[in-house]
Amino acid sequence: MRRKPHPTPTLTSVLPSFTGNVVDEFVQKGGEFSYKARTALYDVFSRIDKSIFGQRVLIPAFHCPTVVQPILKAGFEVEYYRIKKDLQIDFAELADKLNENVAAVVIINFFGFEQPLQALPTLCEANNTLLIEDCSHSVAAISPVRLSGGRGDISIYSFWKMLPSVQGGGWVARAPATLQKTEKKKPAQPLIQSLRLGKQIAEHIFDNMLLGLRCILGHYHYQDDVRVDFDAPVETSQEVTFYPVDELHYDFDIPWLSKYIIKNARFNSQVAGILKNYQDLSDDFSKVEAFHLPYADSELNVVPWAVPVILENRQQYDYKLLANDVSFFTFGEELHASLYDGKSASQAAVDDARYLSGSMICFSIHQNLNSIDIHHTKKVVNTLFSQKSSL
Ligand SMILES: Cc1ncc(COP(=O)(O)O)c(C=O)c1O
Repeated sequence: MRRKPHPTPTLTSVLPSFTGNVVDEFVQKGGEFSYKARTALYDVFSRIDKSIFGQRVLIPAFHCPTVVQPILKAGFEVEYYRIKKDLQIDFAELADKLNENVAAVVIINFFGFEQPLQALPTLCEANNTLLIEDCSHSVAAISPVRLSGGRGDISIYSFWKMLPSVQGGGWVARAPATLQKTEKKKPAQPLIQSLRLGKQIAEHIFDNMLLGLRCILGHYHYQDDVRVDFDAPVETSQEVTFYPVDELHYDFDIPWLSKYIIKNARFNSQVAGILKNYQDLSDDFSKVEAFHLPYADSELNVVPWAVPVILENRQQYDYKLLANDVSFFTFGEELHASLYDGKSASQAAVDDARYLSGSMICFSIHQNLNSIDIHHTKKVVNTLFSQKSSL
């Protein structure tokens, strides 16, 4: 049995909630909902006037291709700036690329952690460049729990990654007047898609109810023994593959059911549990020699999406974790094809992006995961990496 890497709906997700959540703030700030974050990016870039702001967009070389595709589709040229192996921006390279023809700089708060901006806001302002903060990896900052982002001109969100809505993204602009109005009428989600979503949500609710029942009855456990020969080495090669993007995602509006779940999610009350899962795993992982935790020393001021780990030669291990029902996912495993065209990125940027692409592994900590799941993840990881543990 393996819990899904991202949260899925439970029965309470479809019941109305009268407690606030971070999404109230999104609505108060004039946030626009979208089908997914990629749709939000497409909507935003379709509204940027190239004759005022310019034609080029600077994007992190380490990314998800769903960030790049909508910007190209909206008619911009993209150029990549280097993200160093520790996931930090190479500010010298970025500043070098910034000029008046750059319409926007996209920064990604990887795994929710706020990317330091240094002088970027000032540099962007001086070049009439929009600063777009991609907060797709986490909807919330903490102390107090609140909507993440707001440090740039536009913030992008991917609600479904943290709230159990299956779909749903959005964007907020600090000064909406800088953006053009679009006349584009989006077709409503076709009936068949809505029915499919309803069925999917019903199945998730049913599965979660069964798991809940098994917890109550004491039947919820993972297999005791770790099932794969961890010592067997595997041949790995990091091939360049391409991420499939469904063009339909740009035309759909957010389904009403996803929007309803997002607005009623009991997210704020679940934050303590998510942070506990984060702390539990990261404390344990910091003792694993093969793991590098890039944010271990940063102050925790967001609700992270996962515990991100840099693990060299990830491909030697990830399928073994999968075979043992560990909940994890990868990010940036595939990079956009234009990164490799020889002109859009420096060699150092490509090299570091490929390093990260083959090394990032993200251990899930979301609200559906309980102490049994977290214990299991620790156990498999410690067995795999031969750690003496307190388990
Ligand atoms: C940084 C970033 N922005 C945007 C997206 C697109 O998110 P969505 O799947 O909601 O379109 C992703 C996807 O993982 C992402 O990693």
